[in-house]
Amino acid sequence: MRKSSRSTVDPFIVMDVMEAARKAEAAGEHIIHMEVGQPGTAAPQAAQRVLAETMRKDAMGYTVALGLPALRARIARLYGEWYNVDLNPERIVVTSGSSSAFLLAFTALFDAGDTVAIGAPGYPSYRQILKALSLNPLDLRSAPENRLQPVPDDFADLDIAGLMVASPANPTGTMLDKPAMQALIDATHAKGASFISDEIYHGIEYEAKAVTALELTDDCYVINSFSKYFSMTGWRIGWMVVPEDHVRTVERLAQNMFICAPHVSQVAALAAMDATDELEANMAVYRKNRRLMLEGLPKAGFTKFAPPDGAFYVYVDVSDFTDDSRAFAAEILEKAKVAVTPGLDFDPERGHGTLRFSYARFSADIAEGLARLETFMRKYGHL
Ligand SMILES: Cc1ncc(COP(=O)(O)O)c(C=O)c1O
Repeated sequence: MRKSSRSTVDPFIVMDVMEAARKAEAAGEHIIHMEVGQPGTAAPQAAQRVLAETMRKDAMGYTVALGLPALRARIARLYGEWYNVDLNPERIVVTSGSSSAFLLAFTALFDAGDTVAIGAPGYPSYRQILKALSLNPLDLRSAPENRLQPVPDDFADLDIAGLMVASPANPTGTMLDKPAMQALIDATHAKGASFISDEIYHGIEYEAKAVTALELTDDCYVINSFSKYFSMTGWRIGWMVVPEDHVRTVERLAQNMFICAPHVSQVAALAAMDATDELEANMAVYRKNRRLMLEGLPKAGFTKFAPPDGAFYVYVDVSDFTDDSRAFAAEILEKAKVAVTPGLDFDPERGHGTLRFSYARFSADIAEGLARLETFMRKYGHL
């Protein structure tokens, strides 16, 4: 049967690393996982408890497309608590993770053939989802002096229908402060283009609170998720905030594309939002892991990186050691028994000289992984 040309998106290279790690484990090896982009912890206890109780008395059928009103109201309250932003709950759309929010946003905002700018390095699925929707992703080659975040000059001469940013970003963990975010919003609006902010790593921040685009403008789409700070990746639950006059458009799309986000996950997510003690205990682990990474990576010879402001990744320039990050990651897996992600997933042009190290897992694993990396780098003459 014929296949569409728009369906020919690229695979995730990290999946190859994960498969190689799985095979090594099946053969009895002990692998340290620094490739995975998800918490090692479960959903908060309170979320599990409330869901178990609710399931006993509720059939858990479809919810309305925009999501449970109580959850939308609680998410609106979060904007007051975290950013002092007074948000109308009517603007919130509950989604199946941020991934389905991308589909809704790109469909609501753009027409086939439109060009949408994204930062490179950046989360690979933006590019692939845009392609699958017959849109043109345009990589903005961000500069190390801008901590690998886009700036207005990067798209000054380009004809774009939208700009998508992430702060904190994957793979770098770097953030946009208020002036940087404002400059990007202004430059995007000056072109009559739409501004989309992926804020999935909010809550996981170290030195300063992350800025939401909603502090600066209502004329934007903001995408967030329960996957990271709330430790609920597999529950497939997230949200999007849209301008008031876009709600009905997105609602109609959501009704037809998804009917609703999983009801069970909406119930659990609502309870998770009040599990502050448990979530902050997770944060204490990320903080400790970040400290271990900032000390341990340089000892292993990995010195070229910007300390992450948020998320749980360090993106390292390894071009002194290799011009083939995929082969280097395979060698590290084989010899050091540590799984890491080649930069090519995030930056097809420059990622052959970079690796992403995740520190989302438990501290003992991170410490062991760093020790193994140092031994590997010494043994094979890189140090
Ligand atoms: C920047 C970024 N956005 C979005 C996602 C997708 O997350 P989810 O669909 O689980 O909300 C990820 C996952 O790693 C990510 O790193």
